Amino acid sequence: MDEFIARLPKAELHLHIEGTLEPELAFQLADKNRMKLPFTSVEEMRAAFNFSDLQSFLDLYYASVSVVCSEEDFYELTLTYLKKAASQNVKHAEIFFDPQTHTARDIPMGTIVHGISAALKDGQSQLGISSKLILSFLRHLSAESAMETLEQAAPFRDHFIGVGLDSSELGHPPSQFVKVFDAARQQGYHVVCHAGEEGPPEYITEALDLLHAERIDHGVRCMEDPELVKRLAAEQIPLTVCPLSNVRLRVFKTMKEHTLKQMMDAGLLVTVNSDDPPYFGGYVNENFAAIQDAFDLSQNDLIKLARNSFEASFLTDKEKQTLI
Ligand code: ADE
Ligand code: ZN
Repeated sequence: MDEFIARLPKAELHLHIEGTLEPELAFQLADKNRMKLPFTSVEEMRAAFNFSDLQSFLDLYYASVSVVCSEEDFYELTLTYLKKAASQNVKHAEIFFDPQTHTARDIPMGTIVHGISAALKDGQSQLGISSKLILSFLRHLSAESAMETLEQAAPFRDHFIGVGLDSSELGHPPSQFVKVFDAARQQGYHVVCHAGEEGPPEYITEALDLLHAERIDHGVRCMEDPELVKRLAAEQIPLTVCPLSNVRLRVFKTMKEHTLKQMMDAGLLVTVNSDDPPYFGGYVNENFAAIQDAFDLSQNDLIKLARNSFEASFLTDKEKQTLI
């Protein structure tokens, strides 16, 4: 089955570029930029990847990415991910970046966007991997900060295709961000939203009705609300599920307790993604392998999940045809 998974053409739709920082690269960049990580070695850093919930992960994720500073650093971070993804037969990636994490430490928007974009371009020409970028607002910060970020990104609008909402979910419902998402939609951006990871099903409904999200990131807690499940199935709203992330962040105690198979059986448009792969123990193929093993998925189930990933992407029909 591992061979079969490796050969399947896949799209990855839920991946935070900041969350792809492998400890080896973190130490390399810390040395280069004369900065200190809160660990003395790669091994010590990896050993700290043991989380009790989303916030315990986010604290480490924000601290680690502080060593990524220059345009070249953003380029290297991104190209390193693309090489790994291409090696796993990922044909297309829709990648989040969190500009507020960097602008808060005085890194200009242009440095971030140009570094990432240059790598995406080289990923296409050198590795044959297609990609799109999604600007994600941090929901633990204010709605005003999100609006300011959208304004700062305006000169770079050709570099990204959509906006999202991530970071600490509980206590930060989508309803707080209506204005900035209205503005983004008016400017022609696609809209996605993390909802129903740790937060309740109501946050998913808010993301759909108030932010007009076209895709829900995670969304696993929808299973607590049968009416919502019916709606998500009827409207075929894609859910970008991240199985290893959910287990590592203790949304589910074990992979066997994950609701992914029930979600598939309920007719939901489920996709499989890696979120922040080094932190959660695997890239997209490891996520596929973990669910295959937990639920004894058939080759047809895996094909369906891979097909869903292209279906749920923001690729045009013509672009899809050239990739699958
Ligand atoms: N930022 C990076 N990974 C995240 C996740 N799983 N949930 C919310 N925000 C995130
Ligand atoms: Zn995420």
